Amino acid sequence: MAAESIQVHYKVYNHLSELPTTDANLILEVREICKSAYAPYSRFRVGALALMEDNSKIHGTNQENASYPIGLCAERVLLAAVSSIAPDQKIKTLAISYESDEVDAMAPVAPCGMCRQSLVEYESRFNEPIRLLLSGQTGTIIELNSVSDLLPFAFKHFHLGK
Ligand code: THU
Repeated sequence: MAAESIQVHYKVYNHLSELPTTDANLILEVREICKSAYAPYSRFRVGALALMEDNSKIHGTNQENASYPIGLCAERVLLAAVSSIAPDQKIKTLAISYESDEVDAMAPVAPCGMCRQSLVEYESRFNEPIRLLLSGQTGTIIELNSVSDLLPFAFKHFHLGK
């Protein structure tokens, strides 16, 4: 038997002013983007903003449906957009924020399990870490070096022999 462990390193910023300007601007932008989400059922609006290799930006928001399970998270809407608009480009940084009519958006939230799997697929596709910036409308900001840090033991292409 061998007892092993996995460590995740991440940074916590108390204020936007502690971040480099590019990152602070991404966060300010994604905080606005989430306001345009279509989320009349949960009233929890999420925005995801990708900074691409060429410094262009592509965003996604959650898209809900009266048939609840059909709804899509902002992160997977974003990946579909990125893969359609800029299929050959890596994502350098992904900023995620939210706002809600039900709760205060004063702390960061991390992508759900299904989105983590989708994000890891995208990272594997380009073999390059996607840096994550997570934030609410105010409060602390979390920076992770790679989306894979959110999903240890991910199911990947090589498990299928691909
Ligand atoms: N949601 C996202 O867009 N991303 C996540 O990572 C978590 C949840 C959306 C799905 C649904 O429209 C609403 O937030 C409430 O779950």
